[in-house]
Amino acid sequence: MRMALSIVLLISLLSAIAPLPSEALNVRGHLLKSKTFCSPPILLGPGSVSNKYYHDVDFPQGHIAIKSFDAEVVDENGVPIPLHETYLHHWVAEPYYALKNSHSADSQKLPKGVLRRNDGVCKTTLGQYFGLGSETRHTATWVPDPYGIESGNPESAPEGYEEKWLLNIHAIDTRGVADKPGCTECKCDFYNVTIDEYGRTISKNYTGGLFCCYDKTQCKVKEGFNGEVRKLFLQYKVTWLDWTDGVVPVKIYIFDVTDSALLNGTPEHSCKVEYQVEECSSVNRANDDCTHVKTSRAVLPRGGDIVFGVAHQHSGGSGSSLYGQDGRLLCESLPTYGTGQEAGNEANYIVGMSTCYPKPGSIKVSDGEVLTVVSNYSSDRQHTGVMGLFYILVAEPQQAAPAPSLCFSFPAKWCLPAWISSNM
Ligand SMILES: *[C@@H]1O[C@H](CO)[C@@H](O)[C@H](O)[C@H]1NC(C)=O
Ligand SMILES: *[C@@H]1O[C@H](CO)[C@@H](O)[C@H](O)[C@H]1NC(C)=O
Ligand SMILES: *[C@@H]1O[C@H](CO)[C@@H](O)[C@H](O)[C@H]1NC(C)=O
Repeated sequence: MRMALSIVLLISLLSAIAPLPSEALNVRGHLLKSKTFCSPPILLGPGSVSNKYYHDVDFPQGHIAIKSFDAEVVDENGVPIPLHETYLHHWVAEPYYALKNSHSADSQKLPKGVLRRNDGVCKTTLGQYFGLGSETRHTATWVPDPYGIESGNPESAPEGYEEKWLLNIHAIDTRGVADKPGCTECKCDFYNVTIDEYGRTISKNYTGGLFCCYDKTQCKVKEGFNGEVRKLFLQYKVTWLDWTDGVVPVKIYIFDVTDSALLNGTPEHSCKVEYQVEECSSVNRANDDCTHVKTSRAVLPRGGDIVFGVAHQHSGGSGSSLYGQDGRLLCESLPTYGTGQEAGNEANYIVGMSTCYPKPGSIKVSDGEVLTVVSNYSSDRQHTGVMGLFYILVAEPQQAAPAPSLCFSFPAKWCLPAWISSNM
């Protein structure tokens, strides 16, 4: 305790005699850094849709522990754009391994890029490390201490490859459109499409979702409405620490309420990403019971401590929760709806999702445990293309934790001997 106090004094003393660098010291003495980046420009006219993948985007370099990833849509002057003008359907950020020397003769047969993917649970979809939608402005992404999401470890890249990051951003410009909820829910009636992105005929019974609002599609605009094409950006702020032994790595698992593998008894995960909420029956309406509840179960590959949890839902969502195999509640995540016009508080849109930060070690899950996701929506009216995802960060039990070394990079790089820091 005395030691801790003297270190605090030492830090204050050091900061008193020299100006602090722009990077601030965090409590454990490691430098917390942050930087704001911009995606490539997204060009959008009234009613238009952009759903593009951007490879090799700006990202912090080196072997790091990511602590947060916050994003929002802004214009060329950095002014936040409200959701009722540009609806942010989703963005995802994901690392991948890029072939270093793709022009050399022996690399011709190698894939140019290999997705790195998170640690589960859907095998072909939802491989992202971060991803949110309309709720991005008010949803915490902070990874609590001493945990971090590992990135850029040169040793994990396959020979001849290096780690890079990609962004997928799906935005819908709803200025002047005939029906804002119809456009944001990708109702096919408003999109005048008969084939999907891959040229396949869209089935007559498919009424809405991503198959109808892919890149370069156009939602119906009110007659006579004119609006200029705007150049927008996804602005994202990454906060990180340089990787040290003191950081405990976390695994990322994303559960999808449409995953029917376990229910159907099939080994392959079947994460369909989207589903449809039908309008409630008149009987249910009379009973004031217009909540659509969807449930699915999936196996958590590896257990540990849940250190963070958050759900993703679209407009109409009323909350989602994740339960353990014995029915205990692991995390509940509830939406906040906006009440005004300004960016971050748009009425009728989900502007934030609540998050879970369990007390370290208080929420444990085990290897192979079957978790249940519940996603609730209002069925007051039909909703197409809705989602029910649950994102958790799990820290695996540490084998013989190394004594944390307390290091400082200021004014020069130095560390406390391990015997002192392990007694703190
Ligand atoms: C719908 O698409 C067809 C061809 O794909 C086009 O000829 C027609 O003008 C479009 N209608 C509207 C209202 O945009
Ligand atoms: C729609 O029809 C196709 C075949 O045309 C069928 O495979 C699919 O299950 C149907 N979907 C729904 C939601 O009814
Ligand atoms: C979902 O709805 C069910 C049934 O109405 C309710 O028991 C449960 O608490 C709801 N969960 C959330 C997270 O809102």
